[in-house]
Amino acid sequence: MPALGFGTLISDLTLTRTATRDALDAGFRHFDCAERYRNEREVGEALQAGLAANAIARENIFVTTKLWNSNHRPERVEPAFEASLDRLKLKYLDLYLIHTPYAFQPGDEQDPRDQNGNVIYDKGVTLVDTWRAMENLVGHGKCRAIGLSDISLGELLPIYESARIKPAVVQVESHPYLPETELLEFCKEKGIVFLAFAPLGHGMRPGLLEDPVIVAIATRVGKTPAQVLLAWAVQRGTALLTTPRTAARARENFNISPLPKEALEEINRIQTRQRLNSVVTTGIPGFIPQGR
Ligand SMILES: NC(=O)c1ccc[n+]([C@@H]2O[C@H](COP(=O)([O-])OP(=O)(O)OC[C@H]3O[C@@H](n4cnc5c(N)ncnc54)[C@H](OP(=O)(O)O)[C@@H]3O)[C@@H](O)[C@H]2O)c1
Repeated sequence: MPALGFGTLISDLTLTRTATRDALDAGFRHFDCAERYRNEREVGEALQAGLAANAIARENIFVTTKLWNSNHRPERVEPAFEASLDRLKLKYLDLYLIHTPYAFQPGDEQDPRDQNGNVIYDKGVTLVDTWRAMENLVGHGKCRAIGLSDISLGELLPIYESARIKPAVVQVESHPYLPETELLEFCKEKGIVFLAFAPLGHGMRPGLLEDPVIVAIATRVGKTPAQVLLAWAVQRGTALLTTPRTAARARENFNISPLPKEALEEINRIQTRQRLNSVVTTGIPGFIPQGR
């Protein structure tokens, strides 16, 4: 998996196409998708056109997508996988993730709610049941690896212990305000790729991009705050997903270089702790609203 990944969590469909294409043109070869983002078709079209225009072979890009919460029932896993593959116009996926450990009422409604507006969870399926169905996807040539997302170390352990096919990747929110060091150490020990989302703190302002430590290092090394944050993520041994929406930002976010050791240590000493996305506690997607 290329360490630098482009994330496709973009609600505007036209912007999804242009940003995906710009990312490919800038050099990104790792693309993160999800059925929940409702834009797999646009990502697939942009990739197909971009690969053809740049004479890049499918084997030279890495594409991930994710099983949504309303498809956790084992009999729904393969159809959901095939539907994503079809929308993305691909013959195989490099990685398929369980998007969150929360099962919602099975069905085509992605956000099932009762009359009081509360999410309807599905108590009739366990994460282990879903994992077994994910394991069955591997080995037929269409799904090269499987993993989990929005999962804590406590939830990962029982899956890891009982799995026939161990998770290849764990995708979670991570940045200097949420280093997730214990999970990262576990992943390193077990050979699992730790894939960080929101490495720029989702671009929120005030936030990481304006953190005085990050800004001072950026000035010192002649890079932008975004480049400093992305370099830190790679140098601590994680892969990452970032969402530049313009060609200039795609080039900026792809053009990173190693930071000196003292800069890494300074970032590691930042004391602020903040989780920006509450999906991990509810299964309901969304960044926590704050000033931008
Ligand atoms: N598993 C999950 O539940 C989950 C949850 C969330 C995300 N993800 C994945 O992770 C990907 C990345 O997450 P993210 O979008 O939060 O990543 P991010 O790169 O931390 O944040 C993206 C935002 O940062 C700003 N930005 C990007 N490049 C910049 C630059 N060079 N300088 C200044 N600002 C910049 C942009 O905001 P503006 O355009 O507003 O300026 C952009 O929307 C998503 O696309 C998705 O694939 C997964």
